[in-house]
Amino acid sequence: MNKQILSPRLTLTRLARQDWELIHSIYSNPALMKHIGEVKSDEEIRRTFDKEIAPWSIKSTHWLTWIINENSSCNNVGLISICTRNLEKLTAEVGFIILEAYKGKGYATEAIKIIIEFAVDTLGFKKFIAVCSEEHLGSRRVLEKAGMFLDEIVPNCTQIDGKLVNDCLYSLESGYFFIDRDARGI
Ligand SMILES: CC(C)(COP(=O)(O)OP(=O)(O)OC[C@H]1O[C@@H](n2cnc3c(N)ncnc32)[C@H](O)[C@@H]1OP(=O)(O)O)[C@@H](O)C(=O)NCCC(=O)NCCS
Repeated sequence: MNKQILSPRLTLTRLARQDWELIHSIYSNPALMKHIGEVKSDEEIRRTFDKEIAPWSIKSTHWLTWIINENSSCNNVGLISICTRNLEKLTAEVGFIILEAYKGKGYATEAIKIIIEFAVDTLGFKKFIAVCSEEHLGSRRVLEKAGMFLDEIVPNCTQIDGKLVNDCLYSLESGYFFIDRDARGI
């Protein structure tokens, strides 16, 4: 499988053993984890990391993760992942984190679009889903800008900071893919 995926501003590279420090710094950062879940212990981060660097196939139950780098600086700006959620229906969940210093540049939106294109063209997925808390307006905006639709708001679904929050379930199905691909010259 391709180790790198390119777009004009970003390069996505498959997660590898040398990315441990970056992954640890992300998952132990309370600000970045604020809307995702509890900050993970070092052991949990290590377990997740070891799973995610293992070989992946569409039948895998673990996330397939790429580190996002900014082409202009080569700096790490975050990560993006997909995980098969329904093999029969070729459905994958998308997850993403952009580092604080790189927020507001459209990178999350760009990364989601290119990962969906890759996952359709190369892996054969036909549907994508994403979950975020109702109050996480930035993430909801990103999902909408990436072309996803809000299907449902599930009350009291995920525990964050000791309280249950409502989850927004977004999806995108074939027929709605790549509406703006030509406009971006891809
Ligand atoms: C949420 C996150 C992914 C946004 O990444 P990003 O690269 O800044 O996103 P983009 O620049 O592509 O788009 C952000 C959009 O949200 C909007 N936005 C950001 N914060 C907002 C807020 N509090 N209220 C309303 N809109 C907001 C921005 O204005 C922008 O929309 P616009 O282009 O129409 O102006 C990033 O902040 C992040 O990773 N946070 C921590 C981890 C996380 O929560 N991941 C998502 C898990 S579901």
